[in-house]
Amino acid sequence: MLTFPVIAVNEAKTKYLFDNRFGTGQSTLDGILRATDILIAGKKFVVCGYGWCGKGIASRAKGMGAQVIVTEVDPMRALEAVMDGFEVMPINEAAKEGDIFVTATGDLNVIDKKSLTKMKSGAFLANAGHFDCEINLEHLALISKKVTQVNEHVREYTTKTNKKLLLIAEGRLVNLGAATGHPASVMDLSFANQALSIEYIMKNHSKLSSQVYDVPLNIDNAIAKLKLSAMKIKIDKLTEEQKKYLNSWE
Ligand SMILES: NC(=O)c1ccc[n+]([C@@H]2O[C@H](COP(=O)([O-])OP(=O)(O)OC[C@H]3O[C@@H](n4cnc5c(N)ncnc54)[C@H](O)[C@@H]3O)[C@@H](O)[C@H]2O)c1
Repeated sequence: MLTFPVIAVNEAKTKYLFDNRFGTGQSTLDGILRATDILIAGKKFVVCGYGWCGKGIASRAKGMGAQVIVTEVDPMRALEAVMDGFEVMPINEAAKEGDIFVTATGDLNVIDKKSLTKMKSGAFLANAGHFDCEINLEHLALISKKVTQVNEHVREYTTKTNKKLLLIAEGRLVNLGAATGHPASVMDLSFANQALSIEYIMKNHSKLSSQVYDVPLNIDNAIAKLKLSAMKIKIDKLTEEQKKYLNSWE
């Protein structure tokens, strides 16, 4: 039971639309490239989970010339991936096709026993989700007869059927394990959310109860405004006539 008010910063638009999508999108590719030096163009790149992180990873891999396959469990997100132009299929089918696999779900054993046994020799595996449980590493070890650390960030598992599966950054967050995380110029949005939410709690705690709150909308919007101004980008303002028109609908 909560004994104090909490603000869920991850639910702020100025967090997930930018840090999760553009930050994780870029730094995940950065981690894979630093660890492997592989060419992304022409590869079949499987993204497990089409949430904010998955969308960012998929769009960057596509931009680099990969054929992106998305796996999902949520029909809405799967449909979105289809309409964004990606192939969508179950993981056990994607497993046979992929050259590079990245999980970004926050879920457990997303790449599980069956998928691991179906993979092509030479496939790379990475995780950009929350913990090192998105790929079933226990099973990967169980089906392997030899494990070789081929460089600082890549571990080669030779399976009992003589396939080689290449695990990047031990299945931990690849963008932190094999790269340096997100650029400061996107983390500033997340940190602004944290700092301003703490200030909000300090000023308003007597009115708040012990529950989870969203970041107040005015703080979320103020952060977007501040970021634009730091980027020296100006936008239009509604005229009085437009405000009146937009508010006149019943
Ligand atoms: N690497 C980083 O620096 C970084 C940054 C931000 C968030 N994260 C983590 O990344 C994960 C995803 O974050 P998000 O904002 O995209 O979350 P999200 O909730 O928007 O997306 C997660 C998606 O994964 C899907 N999913 C769940 N189980 C699945 C399964 N078995 N197979 C396929 N898809 C499945 C869900 O349906 C959902 O669409 C979270 O664990 C989050 O903590 C990592």
